[in-house]
Amino acid sequence: MSQKICVVGTGYVGLIASVGLADFGNTVTGVDLNEDKINKLKEGISPIYEPGVEDYLRRNLDSGRLKFTTGIDYAIKDSTVVFIAVGTPENDNGEANLSYVESVVNSIADNLNDYKVIVTKSTVPVGTNRWIYELLKEKTGHENFDVVSNPEFLREGRATQDFFHPDRTVLGCESEKAKEIMFNVYRSLNLISVPFVWCNLETAELIKYASNAFLATKITFINEIANLAEAVGADIHQISKSMGMDGRISPKFLHPGPGYGGSCFPKDTKAVAMFGKKYGVTMNLIESVIDTNDKQKARMVEKLKTSIGDIKGKTIAVLGLAFKQQTDDIRETPALTIVDEILKAGGKVQAHDPKAMDNFAKIFPDIMYCHTAYDAAKNADAVVIVTEWNEYRGLDLIKLKHAMKGNFILDTRNLLDPEIVVARGFIYEGVGRK
Ligand SMILES: NC(=O)c1ccc[n+]([C@@H]2O[C@H](COP(=O)([O-])OP(=O)(O)OC[C@H]3O[C@@H](n4cnc5c(N)ncnc54)[C@H](O)[C@@H]3O)[C@@H](O)[C@H]2O)c1
Repeated sequence: MSQKICVVGTGYVGLIASVGLADFGNTVTGVDLNEDKINKLKEGISPIYEPGVEDYLRRNLDSGRLKFTTGIDYAIKDSTVVFIAVGTPENDNGEANLSYVESVVNSIADNLNDYKVIVTKSTVPVGTNRWIYELLKEKTGHENFDVVSNPEFLREGRATQDFFHPDRTVLGCESEKAKEIMFNVYRSLNLISVPFVWCNLETAELIKYASNAFLATKITFINEIANLAEAVGADIHQISKSMGMDGRISPKFLHPGPGYGGSCFPKDTKAVAMFGKKYGVTMNLIESVIDTNDKQKARMVEKLKTSIGDIKGKTIAVLGLAFKQQTDDIRETPALTIVDEILKAGGKVQAHDPKAMDNFAKIFPDIMYCHTAYDAAKNADAVVIVTEWNEYRGLDLIKLKHAMKGNFILDTRNLLDPEIVVARGFIYEGVGRK
């Protein structure tokens, strides 16, 4: 049986959940405080860049199963299942900021007119779902609700695909009634044999953090080996390819680069380190991953300085601002560190990104934003490729060289073939290979 659902927060996760749950046949109301977002969504326009999402958005708006509102009170009252999908950014001390979640829980308490299942999709510290339960109980004076932890594992850039074909669906759920309702919400995934992991609240919460911390560790590991490969004259591509052939290792997340970024890995690894402190458990590995990743970002600027000398007065073309390809998300992107360091060193930045320039301009309004990679390279002393957008793989090197004043390329994603680049008259620097 399909369910009446309200999804609070229509950002990268809440939007995908709203369209996805509606596509499964549920009736969904997406809620956000941000009126601009809601107005765009009502028109079938996605406020974020995510491949494929607008098709699902329009299809489900047209079907009448999906609507959007800023009116949280009625949306909650009118639903049996309330998903919390608001942000949990890090506080100054590295802990997750739960103020957005708390504000939603207060709204739920005010509108808990009948039995409801409260489902937390936001990534929240271990213990948060039990705290939500206690808060609701205290504020309403009854227990006519259940709380479920349902962490999200989607990857930006492949979010719709990941929502409809997840590797697993984790459900921290301690009541039979809520279990039956959640099973109905995700019936479509059961039909295609997606494994459901039913567990307690704390286990679900920690599965999410452990998964992200592990992936961040894998990236950091290969970056460290890449740095060693550079020093000893080995080729990181052959190393990671060969390592990935080992079934115990798997080839995914073994690509060297400028350090991980994005809205999840940096904050989630820091949150894990904070749990360790809180519970008195040593988290040496995670702490070292955080530190090593910061150094990897800074190392990219050092490579630039080593190759072109003093940056003062030089023009650097930065290609790619998003934290990875196929998204406009710039949260914690390595480009923030790289651009900041270039500016601090007295350099000038000419930037290009197919989708993320508007977001980047909110933080760096004064650098030059260019329509194409070649415009960005105009009179530049060096080009730095920061994001692995496919269009940079196919750069016309002759055109690029022609536009530039200098001839240095720092390819932090190893997108280009060094032999071809050098044959076109460039000096090339990648990561983990000569
Ligand atoms: N982005 C990802 O790739 C990803 C993947 C997995 C999990 N997560 C987790 O999911 C959560 C959401 O992440 P996101 O990237 O979608 O965040 P986001 O910042 O893109 O979106 C959050 C949305 O919540 C809205 N909001 C905040 N308070 C609200 C309130 N009281 N009522 C209604 N709307 C409110 C904001 O206006 C915003 O639109 C975070 O905990 C994150 O860690 C994110």
